[in-house]
Amino acid sequence: MGADAQRAAVEMVCGGCGLHVDPARTLPFRCPSAARDAGIDHVLARRVPIDELDADAAGFGAADAERNPFVRFRRLTLAWHVAMAHGLDDDAYVALVRELDDAVARVDGSGFRATPLAHHDALGAWVKDETGNVSGSHKARHLMGVMLALRVFEVTGLHADAELRSRPLAIASCGNAALAAAVVARAAEWPIDVYIPLDASEAVVRRLGDLGARIHVCQREAGAAGDPCVTAFRAAVSGGAIPFGVQGSESGLCVEGGHTLGWELAAQFAAQLAGAAAGDAGLDAIYVQVGGGALAAGLYRGLREARALGVLRRLPRLYTVQTEGAWPLRRAWDRWREAGVDLAAALRDRGSFMWPWETEPRSIAHGILDDETYEWATLLDAMDESGGEPLVVDEDTLREANRVGCAAIGIAVSHTGTAGLAGVLAKRAPGRIGVVFTGAER
Ligand SMILES: Cc1ncc(COP(=O)(O)O)c(C=O)c1O
Repeated sequence: MGADAQRAAVEMVCGGCGLHVDPARTLPFRCPSAARDAGIDHVLARRVPIDELDADAAGFGAADAERNPFVRFRRLTLAWHVAMAHGLDDDAYVALVRELDDAVARVDGSGFRATPLAHHDALGAWVKDETGNVSGSHKARHLMGVMLALRVFEVTGLHADAELRSRPLAIASCGNAALAAAVVARAAEWPIDVYIPLDASEAVVRRLGDLGARIHVCQREAGAAGDPCVTAFRAAVSGGAIPFGVQGSESGLCVEGGHTLGWELAAQFAAQLAGAAAGDAGLDAIYVQVGGGALAAGLYRGLREARALGVLRRLPRLYTVQTEGAWPLRRAWDRWREAGVDLAAALRDRGSFMWPWETEPRSIAHGILDDETYEWATLLDAMDESGGEPLVVDEDTLREANRVGCAAIGIAVSHTGTAGLAGVLAKRAPGRIGVVFTGAER
């Protein structure tokens, strides 16, 4: 058995091939076996020993006044566990988070703080509003998680052979993720290459330039399937760059930062509904817009961990939302249902379920037009477990959701940001419903 295959208490596990990766020995990004057997769906997911914690120790205490989720829920993160196992103490870890967070605030105006959760009668839904988060969307959560791990590796001397500081960060993105990555990279004073499409907004490109990111505009070649930004990003990573994106297949660890959304939502929900009748303290359904899938996967896993710790009594049904422009997740769901195989078997036959959308996808919700849903397996499992399903919404519904969503919270949210609400409008199911307004209109 190779070193990576030995179980560590804190580890990354590949959902496809089952490889166990010790993050102290192997960088916790892409599954080391991914290049060997391309037919398998290799995506690393982090495991930490949460059963050793109780809810208060994990950060869910009702009286916990800490506003930074990366401090509050640190004991649930891989970076904290690696730090504790390799010479740092809790105070030193908190200082490291605060130092990076202060730098983020200097770059972007504010550091990471719990974002608001409020019920809006006009929408009949609870809205978690991420528009005021670092860089204007939830994306920075993913990248803060990765950067904290990189900082822990640096401070503890782990991966010294990899000479991490001599390697640039790299990301492929259509906008929000690139901005988030550039803010966190700037805060950590780490060079970054961003691969963006031709139609990225001028405002985004200008801000990326201001943040000192090196910008590479990628054009779709006629007849070539797949996202050209992803292709260019992969070439950069093959050349030594550190994957600093939000696609779980390229950087499994990025998903963990999205758990903070689930932990935060669960803690806020528990606090707001304190005193509600037993068994009633939970959402019935959560509608989440899906591009590459890291957002929904992270959020759902965070909720699942909150339930395991007794903070939630039950898990909400997960409804994922894609557009008529591209719905690879719905396609995978339909094929999985038709095939009648268990998920483990589907994961070993990725090409039968997930492949790049054939035509160039278009939608007003352009942040969720990924050719592939990289976290498809986690999301099929989550929808199956929770009794949800993948929804596909049309452009009129996306527009209507944006109109009512912006009016309700009085903030300009992007169409991608309100796309989960479009799922609510399309489904019209009763119950206590949650959505995330993931990003501001720019
Ligand atoms: C504002 C916003 N919401 C949601 C998403 C979807 O996130 P994911 O790609 O992780 O599914 C994106 C992706 O770019 C986004 O920018």
